[in-house]
Amino acid sequence: MIAQTPPMGWNSWNTFGSDIDEALIRETADAMGSLGYRDAGYEYVVIDDCWALRERDKDGYLVADPAKFPHGMKALADYVHSKGLKFGMYSCAGLMTCAGYPSSYGYEYRDAETFASFGVDYLKYDFCFFPESGNGRQAYRTMAMALRATGREILFSACNWGREEPWRWMRSAGAHMYRSTGDIHDTYASFTEIVKSQADNFCMSAPGCYNDIDMLTVGMYGKGLVGREGCNDAEYRSQFSLWCLFGAPLMMGGDIRSLSEESRILLQCPGLLAIHRDEECRPPYQIGTNSSFWYPGAVYAKLLSGGDLVIAAYNQSDKDTVPLTIPFAELGIPNNIGRGLDLTNVLTGEHIGVVRDYYRANVQKHDCLILRATPTRL
Ligand code: GAL
Repeated sequence: MIAQTPPMGWNSWNTFGSDIDEALIRETADAMGSLGYRDAGYEYVVIDDCWALRERDKDGYLVADPAKFPHGMKALADYVHSKGLKFGMYSCAGLMTCAGYPSSYGYEYRDAETFASFGVDYLKYDFCFFPESGNGRQAYRTMAMALRATGREILFSACNWGREEPWRWMRSAGAHMYRSTGDIHDTYASFTEIVKSQADNFCMSAPGCYNDIDMLTVGMYGKGLVGREGCNDAEYRSQFSLWCLFGAPLMMGGDIRSLSEESRILLQCPGLLAIHRDEECRPPYQIGTNSSFWYPGAVYAKLLSGGDLVIAAYNQSDKDTVPLTIPFAELGIPNNIGRGLDLTNVLTGEHIGVVRDYYRANVQKHDCLILRATPTRL
């Protein structure tokens, strides 16, 4: 089965945009292996937009730009596969890709065969220049069917930015993940907005198909195409922790050949990645919103297989440090019921111990405390 757990990998767009070539992809595949990403579970190396020539060939086939990919896509796919990784590419459901390259509208079956012949294992499928007369749902169903018809296992990553509430229908169309938001930028405001807008839309995420809240910006620090003002390490901790807790696909968007040590350790944090690939893939829910006092953050929780909970206390305020309260009653453990939670800080590994009724933690500006909680008899 494709996507038994939320997909993980790397995508060229956030940092490199159109500035891509085969050396970059080979070096990225090398870094996935040598710097520990592959062993941590990152699997797909995906080339986004701008890989093709501006015109199809005389027979109507897509052609890789020989200036960027002189050895062709098949050789590049072989190289990525030789590193124990999977190879991804990009097309679009409309008349042109967002950057103006040929797109698959009306060519779905032919292009799916082209991708399969390259050795592609993952297709991201965008929605730019989609004709007004067209039917978006049908277009995604068509490419899903065309990919299946190739006989090759190809993960179908739909990207219509949330049009027509894809969480309601992309699973039925055959996608394995679906973008539900516009493009992320490397800013605290951008990813926080995404989190707020999507926290309630994970109810349809489950093995085989997941809500995709866009590629990560962890480690970009403002560099690259979607760089903007960048984030600090506390903000990257929040972004990555929430993507893991939500069970969203983890497609890294930084230059993984040279990420900071802090970012690399975060992206490979075993405790967070175990939460990310929890087999029951339950959606998150928000607590703390019933408090009578002003609540400066967001507290998300999720039930894990085996009975543990994971809890994220996210300081969304602009105050340096605020106390965030986690009321256990809202997690299903009423006060004075003779039960508590045995808490561990997932990122630091610190064992906090057994706590009853509520837990109050000081969380610094834009940071996120992630706790793993085991229900215990007192
Ligand atoms: C956007 C998409 C981005 C990237 C870009 C390429 O529509 O959301 O993730 O793929 O197109 O042009």
